[in-house]
Amino acid sequence: MSDLAYQQWDPRQYDANARFVTTLGGPVLELLAPRAGERILDLGCGDGPLTARLVAAGCEVVGVDASPEMVAACRASGLDARVMDGEALGFVAEFDAVFSNAALHWMRDGAAVVAGVRRALRPAGRFVGEFGGAGNIAAVTGALNAERGQRGLPALQPWFNPGPAEYAELLAAHGFRVEVMEHFPRPTPLPGSVRDWLATFAGAFAAGIPQADIGDFFDVVTQALAPRLLGPDGRWVVDYQRLRFAARLP
Ligand code: BEZ
Repeated sequence: MSDLAYQQWDPRQYDANARFVTTLGGPVLELLAPRAGERILDLGCGDGPLTARLVAAGCEVVGVDASPEMVAACRASGLDARVMDGEALGFVAEFDAVFSNAALHWMRDGAAVVAGVRRALRPAGRFVGEFGGAGNIAAVTGALNAERGQRGLPALQPWFNPGPAEYAELLAAHGFRVEVMEHFPRPTPLPGSVRDWLATFAGAFAAGIPQADIGDFFDVVTQALAPRLLGPDGRWVVDYQRLRFAARLP
């Protein structure tokens, strides 16, 4: 299990501050091109809106996520979802495709994830996904670590953000033929302030900061980010970089 397990997920907070994550998942769903009757694993399904779209396309879908709260939200919508560590997938040769949107950067042992995906797939199965690639949210990470430094704490890099060549190599080393590998900037407008984004996603960076000071920590980082991420129209835009890929087993 990743040592980021202490990142807490609150489905209501996620819905208010991060719904754009699944709204922007359309292109990677298109890349998957699900066909009715296929059995698909949604790796890092969150609270399940894309899982539900796969079910609506006629697929038989299992969602897995490390967060019991997110899995409970999925199940409340009638989806088949299970709590599972993406670095230790427990399926053997039962899926036509493994799909993943905006989740693989949370699973830092990329090799363990790809090995588990390979085990889970049937022959000729495909692995299609999108996640944060090299340079993802560099401004945000830089400001968080600069403020940690001010407080005498070491810098952290809690996410797995490979470049395209590195990830293609990892897939190939596990027997996949890489069909698509794209790395591109996707500046992403937020529904509210980057302060809400930090509270939703950057819990890992609060390690070592006393509970009573965490709010101030996020306030200071928000101020530091304003010159780079706050537009003249008052909207915050975060510097996402996506890695989008499709790979297939023989
Ligand atoms: C991402 O989607 O790239 C992301 C979201 C939250 C934290 C880190 C990365």
